[in-house]
Formats: sequence, C-alpha cells, structure tokens
Amino acid sequence: MKKVLDDMIKAIENFEEIDQVSTPLAKIIGKVTHPRLIKNALSGTWLGHQFHPMATDLPIGAWLSAGVIDLLGSQTPNPTTRKLVGIGILAAIPAAASGASDWSDTVGPDQRVGYVHALANSTALSLQILSYLKRRHGKQKSAVVLSTAALAAVGVAGYLGGHLTLRRGMGVDHSVFQNRTEEWTKVTTSSELKNDKPLEVNVGETPVVLISHNDLIYALSSTCVHAGGPLAEGEVKGDRIVCPWHGSQFRISNGQVVRGPASVSQPCWEVRVVDKHIEVRAKL
Ligand code: FES
Repeated sequence: MKKVLDDMIKAIENFEEIDQVSTPLAKIIGKVTHPRLIKNALSGTWLGHQFHPMATDLPIGAWLSAGVIDLLGSQTPNPTTRKLVGIGILAAIPAAASGASDWSDTVGPDQRVGYVHALANSTALSLQILSYLKRRHGKQKSAVVLSTAALAAVGVAGYLGGHLTLRRGMGVDHSVFQNRTEEWTKVTTSSELKNDKPLEVNVGETPVVLISHNDLIYALSSTCVHAGGPLAEGEVKGDRIVCPWHGSQFRISNGQVVRGPASVSQPCWEVRVVDKHIEVRAKL
C-alpha cells in the first residue's frame, strides 16, 4: 500500500504535462488574488495563521457528519443530512478560494500535486451538489451513493494536501528550525551597511538581513517565513522589506506581516554597534 501511494505521488510530481494547464491557471489566480486585501484575507495574514487548513475543517466536518448519519441507516430523506451537505457546500467556497490563492504561489512538483488535490476537491464538491439536489427530491439512495463517492474524493485530496504540507513543507514557517542564538554575535562593520540596502550576514548558520533605515539598524531573519525566499535580495520600501519571491511585505522594525502570502511575522534580531562593529542576537 505504502509503495503504491509513494509511486502515485512521484508520478504526479513528475508529470510535467500538467504544467500546460496548471501554470497558466496559477497565473490567472495569482492576478485575481494579487490585491493586498484579497491576498491577506485568503492567506490568513489577518489571523496570524494560514487560513486554508482551518477553512477546510467545516466542509469536511459537515460532509463527514452527514455521511455518518447516512451510514447509521437513514433510508428515508433526512432534513439534517440535507442541511449538513448544504452547509458543507457553502463552507467549501472559502476553503477553495484560500487553497487556490496559496496554490497560485507554487511551482513545479508542488504545483502539480496541488492541482490534483484541487481536482479531487472539485470532484467532491460537484458530487455533493448533486447529492444535495437528490436529497431535495427525496432520492435518498442515490444521494447517499453520491455523498459517499464525494467523501472518497475528499480522502484523496486530504492525502495529497497532507503530502504538500508535511513532506514538501508547503505552508510551514521556514524560519522555525533555524538556530537563534541569544549571545551577542559580531556580524560585520557599520561601514559595510548602506542606507536601505539589505545586507545578508550569517549568525552561525542562520542568515540574517541587516537594514539601515533613517539612521537606525534593523535585523530580521533572512529566510522568508512563507516559502524560504531570500529577503536580503528584496527591496526596502519605506518601513518594509518586500520578499522577492511572492511579494510578502514585513515591517523592518518588528517583522510584522503587512502583506501576504506570509501569515506569520518574520523573526527579529536585536542590534547594537560596538566600536563600529555590528552585533546581533535573537530578540525573544
Ligand atoms: S517566499 Fe513567498 S513571500 Fe517570501
């Protein structure tokens, strides 16, 4: 079983023909979700947590509950299961929108697996809509068959979503496993730092970006929390730094996310200058 699943995932990851459809689609979704308010809403920037994993709980929970009641032997039309299926259909809309927004920032194998994940979820949604209509017309048996098939599709989608998160690290805070020393550490001299020009230094093995702005020096972890982009290659715009990969914006003074797709703050470091040497240490 394990080998079959592994082979299936590898086949999807390497199936480059998917790109012909998925890449243009991701670009269109990327454009639609580009405005800051939309991106922040769908990414979970307002929540300090990725929105998509939470948004999926409601449709899955509602559909699964209807499935359990169906299984327990309701042979006659049941208003409760009909309502649960309907609630799941409505709740699937924000779940799909947030997933599509997250997916639009992916490329290569992640994008391919995400595309199949979305196809499985779309299949589930279509089947549940049909099931809902059958339930409204009192056709309980065919409704149950359709809902059961939909749950199977949700299971496939969940497996692929789990793979994206847990095996490929999509949506994981990319700074979380980095070492952050509390010891003051010399990293460079102040003459190396130019106004509003990010400079990457290393604290042990952790890359840190230094920014001189309005005569103050700021330091943030350089690995973008969203997907590991190099913040030191980003642009400083006013009091923010813009990630060069997907455009997340962080306040240089405290790392706060101003624009998604990042949903959590960028880690900050304390800075001091001693005899023209810049020293940093993790800000707790
Ligand atoms: S890596 Fe995606 S916004 Fe930085």
